Amino acid sequence: MKNGTNYEKKIFVNGKWLETENYSLLKSPYTLEPIAEIAIATKEDLNEAISAAHASRKKMAKMPIHQRSAILEKLVVLLGNRFEEAATIIATEAAKPLTAAREEVRRTIQTYKFAAAEATRIGGETISLDAAPGGENRLAYTVREPLGVIGAITPFNFPMNLVAHKIGPAIAAGNTIVLKPAMQTPLSSFFIADLLQEAGLPDGALNVVTGSGKIIGDGIVMDDRVNMITFTGSPAVGIGIRNRAGLKRVTLELGSNAAVIIDKGIDQEKVVARCVQGAFSNQGQVCISLQRIYIHEDEYDEFVKKLVDETKKLKVGNPLDEDTNVSALISENDVERTLSWIKEAKDGGAIIATGGYAEDNALYPTVILNVHPNMQVSCQEVFAPIVIVNKVKSVQEAIGHVNNSKYGLQAGIYTNDIAQALDAADELEVGGVIINDIPTFRVDHMPYGGVKESGTGKEGIKYAIEEMTEMKLVIINRN
Ligand code: SIN
Repeated sequence: MKNGTNYEKKIFVNGKWLETENYSLLKSPYTLEPIAEIAIATKEDLNEAISAAHASRKKMAKMPIHQRSAILEKLVVLLGNRFEEAATIIATEAAKPLTAAREEVRRTIQTYKFAAAEATRIGGETISLDAAPGGENRLAYTVREPLGVIGAITPFNFPMNLVAHKIGPAIAAGNTIVLKPAMQTPLSSFFIADLLQEAGLPDGALNVVTGSGKIIGDGIVMDDRVNMITFTGSPAVGIGIRNRAGLKRVTLELGSNAAVIIDKGIDQEKVVARCVQGAFSNQGQVCISLQRIYIHEDEYDEFVKKLVDETKKLKVGNPLDEDTNVSALISENDVERTLSWIKEAKDGGAIIATGGYAEDNALYPTVILNVHPNMQVSCQEVFAPIVIVNKVKSVQEAIGHVNNSKYGLQAGIYTNDIAQALDAADELEVGGVIINDIPTFRVDHMPYGGVKESGTGKEGIKYAIEEMTEMKLVIINRN
C-alpha cells in the first residue's frame, strides 16, 4: 500500500473514484501518524451512490448465476495475488498485528470462495398443494429473488472479512450494494472495490461511501430505495438503525460479553492456550472475544496461575512487527474507557492478576479475578484485551452466570460429561454453543448471529443469502 494514497479523498460511486471536498485525517491507531485523507461524503454524494445501486439492480438480478460466481472467483484470485498488500493495509489502519491481519486476509478469501460456490446453490422447492382440499391440480414452486439494494454498514475490527460477509452474499444473490465502511478502517473496503472492478463487477453494483454516521449512515438507513440494511457494530447503533429502518429487512450483528464454562477434569494446558487466544487476539476487539471465564472451583487456582503466566508472555507492540501479539486499541477514548472500567473493578474489590495498564494506545492484556456481575468489565462489552475469571461450584451455576447478560452471541463449554454439555447447549441463551472450545470460534460458512442485544438475523454465506433474498411463490393451475 502506498500509505493509502490511492484512495485520498475518494469515494467509489458507479464504477468511478470521485473526489470529495471534505475529508478527515486517518491516523495509525498505534503510531498516531497520518495514513491517508479520507473522504467525507455529502448527502448529494450518497444520493448519487444510491441512485447508481438502484439503477443497476435489474442488471445484477438478471446476470446469470455463473457470471456472478465467476466475478467472485476472480476476486479470490486477485486478492490472493495481492495477499501481503492486503494484510499490510489491515495491519496499518486497524493496528491488527500482522499475523492476525494475514489470517483475516485468508478468511476473506475463504468468505468470497464460499460466496462464489453458494451462488450456484440458490434455489427453491416444490410444494404439494394437494395436501389441502382445493389444492388439487396445481403445481407450486418457490424461487428466491434478490431484494435489490443492500445498505451495508461495517465495523473497524475485521475491515476486510466483515465487509466480505456483506458484499459476498449480496453479489452472489444478485443484489447491488451501498457500503459505508467504518471511518477508522476504510482503506480495506476501497482496496476490495478496486479488485472487484478489476474482476468485472458492473458499474453501480458496489458503491463505497465514507462519511459521518448522521449523513451517510442514517441516509442509507432511511432511503426508500434501499431494501435491506446489514449492520455489524455496537448494540446502541444497531438498535437505532432498527428503529429508523421502517419496513426494510434488517440484519444486526452486534456485541457480546462472551463466556466460557470450564468444568472439572479438563486438560488445562489446551484450554489455557485457547483462552489466551480467545481473550487477546485483535486486542479483544472481536464480538465473540472471550470476556468471561467461569471455572469449577477445583480447577481455579492452577488455571489462574497458568493463564496469568501465558498472558505475560504476549508481546505488546507495533502491529507491523512480526512477533507482536497485541497492539493498540482503535482509539484513545477506548483506552480511557477500559482503564476506567478496570479501576471500577479494582475499587470494588476485584483483583487485577496481570495487566491493567496502558502504554500509549496499547492496553496490556489484563486478567481480572473475583469480579462482581454488575461491574462493567463483566456486564458490558469490553472490546479490549480484558478477561475475567470467576470460580463456580457447578456447571449449572455457571450457566446462570452466562445467561445473566443482556447479550447472547456465542458461548463455550469445556466438559468431559456429554450429558452436561448437551444440557448446556439447551439452556444457554445464545446464538451458538461451542462444546469443548471457547466462544471465539468462527469459520466463515457457519451460521453466525446472536439473540438478545447481540442482534437479529444470521450471517455465514448461505444464511446471509437467505436474508438478502425474497422467497416468491409461483402456482400453475392445471385445471
Ligand atoms: C465479529 O467481531 O463480529 C466477527 C468475529 C469473527 O468473524 O471472527
